[in-house]
Amino acid sequence: MNILDHLLHKLFEENNLSREELIFLLKNIDEDSKDKLFNYACKTRNRYYGNKVFMRGLIEFSNICRKDCLYCGIRSSNKKASRYRLTKEEILDCCHEGYKLGYRTFVLQSGEDPWYTADRMVDIIKSIKRKFPDVAITLSIGEREKEEYQAFFEAGAERYLLRHETASRSLYEKLHPDSSFDNRINCLKTLKEIGYQVGAGFMVGLPGQREEDLVEDLIFLKSLNPHMIGIGPFIPHSETPLGKTKGGTVEDTLVMVALTRLMVPDSLVPATTAMGTLHPRGRELALMAGANVVMPNLSPSSVRPKYQLYENKICLEDEPAHCRYCIEGRIKSVGMELDMSRGDHWTYKEAKAL
Ligand code: 5AD
Ligand code: FES
Repeated sequence: MNILDHLLHKLFEENNLSREELIFLLKNIDEDSKDKLFNYACKTRNRYYGNKVFMRGLIEFSNICRKDCLYCGIRSSNKKASRYRLTKEEILDCCHEGYKLGYRTFVLQSGEDPWYTADRMVDIIKSIKRKFPDVAITLSIGEREKEEYQAFFEAGAERYLLRHETASRSLYEKLHPDSSFDNRINCLKTLKEIGYQVGAGFMVGLPGQREEDLVEDLIFLKSLNPHMIGIGPFIPHSETPLGKTKGGTVEDTLVMVALTRLMVPDSLVPATTAMGTLHPRGRELALMAGANVVMPNLSPSSVRPKYQLYENKICLEDEPAHCRYCIEGRIKSVGMELDMSRGDHWTYKEAKAL
């Protein structure tokens, strides 16, 4: 067995490798070993979740953001972004439309918009739960105080997505001059302590990101052990300071998806929209590299073009029903099966059965 085969086999068996081994693997992986890596990743995923792909409806309810992340199209300094907020009623309408299409879980995502105070968020969460008691609510609204996270949880939100973006402190600080790396990591820990199913995640191909930095992401994720992990290529947005930089590739992102699957074998990993944006079959390729979640857009088509963290995002013109069936076809095309249930992490299913 050559050394790459040996490392991949060890990773498959033990779901862990040392920092040095991971760096060696990332720097030396070739096409042949990629196929083996993707195979191991799919086998590992199937062990926990079978060949099911879980579907979540994404509602982008505000693009107003107090932060100024260098890579992001809705950063506060982008004066060209046309800003919007959805009302509670508009959010409920999106849920209603999603519910009719079979969705049983909604992801409420926004910029860090202070207009949505804890009280307003609690009211939105409770209203959704009252109308649709059998859906799971995921929040993706950035960094908040512990008390707020606690209040959202008690109101009925059960999952929270907060990508760590990059586990390299120096890279994080370069990309987020107005933010604290420690606070981000602490938020993730707090969310876990409260009892949320927690999603972390990172971008691939950030300017200045080396293999060593990506390995830090893997090691960080292994120790945090989150329930969900979102990984996408960085895509430059022309109205940001990184507009003229290179961006990540589908190939590199696929390798990171598969390695993440092997390091955190029971995680729920989306085939991200950013993958679909870079390649017509990007999401299918991610599923074939170990992903098992898709998050089609349920936002009203009038606001979709305004929620562009990166440019040329897919589905800007498509109605929710169109995406729902489009995705189903894509899932089937890779021999997987659509699952419209809440799609909890397997440890939460156990908890509920008790
Ligand atoms: N390219 C790719 N992904 C991006 N995100 C933000 N801006 C970009 C970009 N230009 C990602 C971040 C964020 C998530 C919602 O979208 O990782 O957490
Ligand atoms: Fe929206 Fe295919 S998922 S058009």
